[in-house]
Amino acid sequence: MDKVRLGVLVSGSGSNLQSIIDHIEQGLIEAEIRVVISSNPDAFALERAGRHGIPAETVIHADFADREAFDRKLVEILRSRSVDLVVLAGFMRVLSPYFLREFRMRVMNIHPALLPSFPGLHGQKKAFDYGVKFSGCTVHFADEGVDTGPIIIQAVVPVLDDDTEDTLAERILKEEHRIYPQAIQYFAQGRLTVSDRKVRVSGVSGASGVMHNPPLSI
Ligand code: GAR
Repeated sequence: MDKVRLGVLVSGSGSNLQSIIDHIEQGLIEAEIRVVISSNPDAFALERAGRHGIPAETVIHADFADREAFDRKLVEILRSRSVDLVVLAGFMRVLSPYFLREFRMRVMNIHPALLPSFPGLHGQKKAFDYGVKFSGCTVHFADEGVDTGPIIIQAVVPVLDDDTEDTLAERILKEEHRIYPQAIQYFAQGRLTVSDRKVRVSGVSGASGVMHNPPLSI
């Protein structure tokens, strides 16, 4: 099967981008990154792309009249690179309905909380401050809402008594680096179907068992 052609949109450190690059280089996912686009000229993600010989561009929203004009530029670049799947990896801009129409069910996002809890910015901090016993991360297809699209895969991460916001965020990020490549590989293998908001992955039976935090003692 042909490799799925990715366009990865970033704004910051790009550790998720790095994880995707590493999985591709190790032959674990059938994908190639055709372009990295950053909304921030100083994003470390750009340097990561450069180190691996991946074409990278910066598109700054302030250079455009409105959100749709910015998104038209993004779409133009992605189309020129024949991108099949758009991967939002710490991309801190909300995409317009125009963009999402152009790539319907072909835009994935990662969020550092168990959606639909704690959408938007600072998902890890919101979960920590709330006092949940489990948080985690979610890969989902993007729709017009903020972090509301159909969920592909989630990882559950316990919150420990001695956690700080930072230690929790770090534990969540480790799982982000595992579930995003997996979601991309499911897509590449043509195993994802979406119906009535539910994403099914063919050939898997799903998790079994229940977790408790703290553990039960009776
Ligand atoms: C990740 O934790 C990602 O889940 C989060 O930004 C970080 C980017 O890190 N995204 C959001 O909060 C989107 N709502 P990275 O640049 O190192 O991949």
